[in-house]
Amino acid sequence: MKRYLVTGGAGFIGSNLAAEIIRRGDGVVIVDDFRTGSWENIVEACHRRGVELRGRVLPLDYRRVDPDAVASVDGVFHLAAITDTLVNDDQLVLDLNAHSAAALMAECARSGIPMVYASSAAVYGLRERGEKLCVGDSLRPLNLYGFSKIALEALHAELGSEKQIVGLRYFNVFGHGEAHKGRMASMVRQLATGARSGTVELFSPGDQARDWIAVDAVVSATLMALETEPGTYNVGSGHAVSFRDVVDLVSEGRATKIVWKPIPDEIIRRYQAFTLAGPPFVPGWTAPGKATEQAIREYARELMRI
Ligand SMILES: NC(=O)c1ccc[n+]([C@@H]2O[C@H](COP(=O)([O-])OP(=O)(O)OC[C@H]3O[C@@H](n4cnc5c(N)ncnc54)[C@H](O)[C@@H]3O)[C@@H](O)[C@H]2O)c1
Repeated sequence: MKRYLVTGGAGFIGSNLAAEIIRRGDGVVIVDDFRTGSWENIVEACHRRGVELRGRVLPLDYRRVDPDAVASVDGVFHLAAITDTLVNDDQLVLDLNAHSAAALMAECARSGIPMVYASSAAVYGLRERGEKLCVGDSLRPLNLYGFSKIALEALHAELGSEKQIVGLRYFNVFGHGEAHKGRMASMVRQLATGARSGTVELFSPGDQARDWIAVDAVVSATLMALETEPGTYNVGSGHAVSFRDVVDLVSEGRATKIVWKPIPDEIIRRYQAFTLAGPPFVPGWTAPGKATEQAIREYARELMRI
């Protein structure tokens, strides 16, 4: 049995990842300071997979993890971050999302422990409609959060490409376990819960489109990444769906009233209106493509039952 450390393991993606590691018969050490994550995420993620929590839960800031604890595991998944893109405290976000990960990365590199860390499609910034976002493109993030992920990737680059470290640029992830994120939960969830009440609000004209990817697909890409060629990869579906089409998918034939709102002036310059993941994807992992639409439908259906 192998044992993996998951920082941010009480969060949305981290709890699903930790539970999947257990389901596959391995052990997990969850490190989370619970600033936004919750024990309920871990319980629910395990329950969905029909497993009991096995391993350790360290209620700790990842910046205080003992290097010996790192050296004793078979791999590290580093997902802990401030994920609220509206937090504007430069020192806090840059320290927690980037700078402090240097020690963890260096310890993994030194002891030969493979590491996968979460970057984001937020590094890319504004693009023309239809344009794919590919690793290697120039980066021009629109907010501090996106910049912090560039700073994190720069630490990786400093260590050299031969170390077994993989950076993953996650696109717009949706699925069970994101409720605690409130205004930062995916628009898929927000539109699905709105549709349940019969009305949703959308920025006009509604043709803004995103590359949505189900959390289960993200988890499988993340697990595969631990054993792949070191480097940086996109984790998206490779298929963009507009907000208006998401409303149709989550409504499934029911009438949902759309209340149109203009994009406020203060965010229009920083509004990522189109994202679409291009290559490279994690080798051996198949981006779901159009099947992501079915995953959106199923998620909305399950939310209706909760
Ligand atoms: N959800 C998405 O659509 C998405 C997209 C791109 C990138 N990502 C990245 O994926 C990772 C996971 O995101 P998520 O959506 O699960 O967010 P989340 O906010 O649910 O999870 C982050 C977790 O990190 C924990 N955390 C924060 N600071 C910590 C610290 N100093 N020490 C220990 N734990 C700490 C939080 O308590 C939380 O449980 C993040 O790095 C995020 O930037 C997510």
